[in-house]
Amino acid sequence: MRVVHVASEVFPFSRSGGLGDVLGVLPEVLAGLGAQTTVVSPWYGSLAGQPTELWRGVLPELTSGPAPIFEVRVGEIVRSGVQYLFIDLPEFDRPGLYSDDDVHRFCLFGRTVLSVLHQIGVVPDVVHGHDWQSGLVVAYAHLAGLKTVFSVHNLQYQGRWNIEDAARWTGLPQWTLGPDALEYHGDLNLMKAGLTFADAVTTVSPTYAQEITTPEYGEGLQGLLVRLTIEGRLSGILNGLDQERWNPRTDPDVPQFADPAGKAAATALLRGEFGLNDAPILGVVSRLADQKGIDLLVEALPELTQSWNVVVLGGGDPLLSAALSGWAQHPRVAFVGGLNEPLAHRIYAGADIFAMPSRFEPCGLSQMISMRYGTLPVVRLTGGLVDTVPADIGFRFAEATPAALSAACAEARAEYDRPEAWQARMERAMALDFSWQGPAAQYLALYRKLGR
Ligand code: GLC
Repeated sequence: MRVVHVASEVFPFSRSGGLGDVLGVLPEVLAGLGAQTTVVSPWYGSLAGQPTELWRGVLPELTSGPAPIFEVRVGEIVRSGVQYLFIDLPEFDRPGLYSDDDVHRFCLFGRTVLSVLHQIGVVPDVVHGHDWQSGLVVAYAHLAGLKTVFSVHNLQYQGRWNIEDAARWTGLPQWTLGPDALEYHGDLNLMKAGLTFADAVTTVSPTYAQEITTPEYGEGLQGLLVRLTIEGRLSGILNGLDQERWNPRTDPDVPQFADPAGKAAATALLRGEFGLNDAPILGVVSRLADQKGIDLLVEALPELTQSWNVVVLGGGDPLLSAALSGWAQHPRVAFVGGLNEPLAHRIYAGADIFAMPSRFEPCGLSQMISMRYGTLPVVRLTGGLVDTVPADIGFRFAEATPAALSAACAEARAEYDRPEAWQARMERAMALDFSWQGPAAQYLALYRKLGR
């Protein structure tokens, strides 16, 4: 079985969030289960890693069209049994991962993937695309008669653009550009390309797979998703966690511990780092975005700071960032902007509770990480948070309001004052197993089913 994953980010080479984390481990586990595994991603200017040049040449399909490219370079890194291929296009040779012209850039990327595989002699049994950036590749693979899987990590970002010249940008036949396929309210929609042309569509949790068939969570695509459900083409496979990278027993970034009692040193470290007082610590590590409900957290801060220290790490929305910077004047609030992996570890390990007031959450990895470190999650009941946070461990709430978040944190605070009950919750949390073995086996079973 030869599987080719296509994604816009892959840890540790490029990452902005959970998508990169998933691509950082699922392929290795699939390889461990015996699947020959390749991952294809753009060769960003800021890629962390030095691929060896594997191929360089002209791809005829790119030499005409709105943004002609005359030479493409392909780099390779082989790690833990997985082949990572990085495609170097001039459009991706800049700092950072994403930018405003991504629909155009990923059209170009999407057109190269299959011919690059052909050039270097990789013949996939299954092409597995992730999120809208790989939607075009899935369409191409389907039209080439290959089996395809498309995974939705976040339906909100769809790769929409009013491209007048969609046929020339995508290189696809005109018939694919109508409302039955790629067109959506006058725009080209690359998420829709993946959903339409994949043999099987998966999302990253069973609950999210159901939610996205409703107007509340369907982001306008619920009609198509209902149809996929009826046809048996949509399912949810829960993400696993890289339990090596996130392991309190071996984590080099924190005072290591193996049980709830040992966690005190990590908490003391975090308290000292930000000069916090004796109150317990509420941690947040998140993209600052509407999806994550960080505005609810900000609105709840007057109440939360009565009984918690609050430590937030994350970047994104400048308004949320400014609001949190303002709050950081408060003796019980600390805010650090941007991505900071070692600090993320210290927060996961040192906080007492971890808040995720998400409006929607396809899977969410932070709640799994925090439970592994004995940090009890306070979560809104949506998507993967429903599927991973048991009621006898975390504190769960339904309404996306500051009041509901505050009430769940108050419930947590009352429980915190009952040390035995708290300790029992921590023990249950630390004993949970979020290994990738089960999910990877589910993907493999899906690939095999398509192969028949
Ligand atoms: C996206 C989703 C998140 C999910 C991750 C990995 O970042 O927002 O819920 O855990 O993808 O699948």
